[in-house]
Amino acid sequence: MTDKTVKIKKNKSIKAWVHQHVNDIYVNQAQKVGYRSRAAYKLLEIDEQENVFHNVLTVVDLGCAPGSWSQVSLQKVGDKGRVVGVDLLDMQPLANLNFIQGDFTEQITLDKLLLSIEHRKVDLVISDMAPNLSGIKGVDQARGAYLIELVLDFAKGYLKTNGHCIIKVFHGSEFDNLVKLARTLFTQVLIRKPDASRSKSSETYLLCKFKKQL
Ligand SMILES: C[S@@+](CC[C@H](N)C(=O)[O-])C[C@H]1O[C@@H](n2cnc3c(N)ncnc32)[C@H](O)[C@@H]1O
Repeated sequence: MTDKTVKIKKNKSIKAWVHQHVNDIYVNQAQKVGYRSRAAYKLLEIDEQENVFHNVLTVVDLGCAPGSWSQVSLQKVGDKGRVVGVDLLDMQPLANLNFIQGDFTEQITLDKLLLSIEHRKVDLVISDMAPNLSGIKGVDQARGAYLIELVLDFAKGYLKTNGHCIIKVFHGSEFDNLVKLARTLFTQVLIRKPDASRSKSSETYLLCKFKKQL
């Protein structure tokens, strides 16, 4: 393929993405309501079906930028609640969100997060993190799996017994092992693909319910 053909294909796929985006009901709805991303509707749908925010006051939102899951979480926990968000990228501040910019895989970020939750256990952990893709399938799957293992490890240490955890997972060779690992920590592990998640995307969400007493 020549450089010119690659460029034409790329332009066509950008156009297709823009077309899909402007015609997407979730994008339109998010813009109307003021959510920063259509991703808000994935979390809202999971909550509607599974009531994950029931009795939740403290939330850790991993990979929170641009902030729609944090917006939903802040609405759900109300004035007495507390939401801490972590992301590699900086983002526009959100009132009442305790935002930490940093790489969740680095100890310094974990230390800041622990400081912000005062080393206390939280009610809900949500992770919509997706690793930067290298384009090399094996490397990307390993990176994704590593992030999920770290989220589960954080939940193991800092999620309350009976608490829930939602984690974005991409289908791949590591998927079954991650589900097995989650089942060692949680009484129930469900796989959810909300309507708002594009059918073309291989993303799904692990809904890990009722953390075991460990
Ligand atoms: C799909 S976006 C999250 C969207 C967010 N849930 C929302 O509703 O606005 C994934 C985010 O994960 C972040 N991310 C990926 N790897 C990360 C890491 N190692 N540490 C912190 N954030 C990470 C990315 O920077 C990106 O902003």
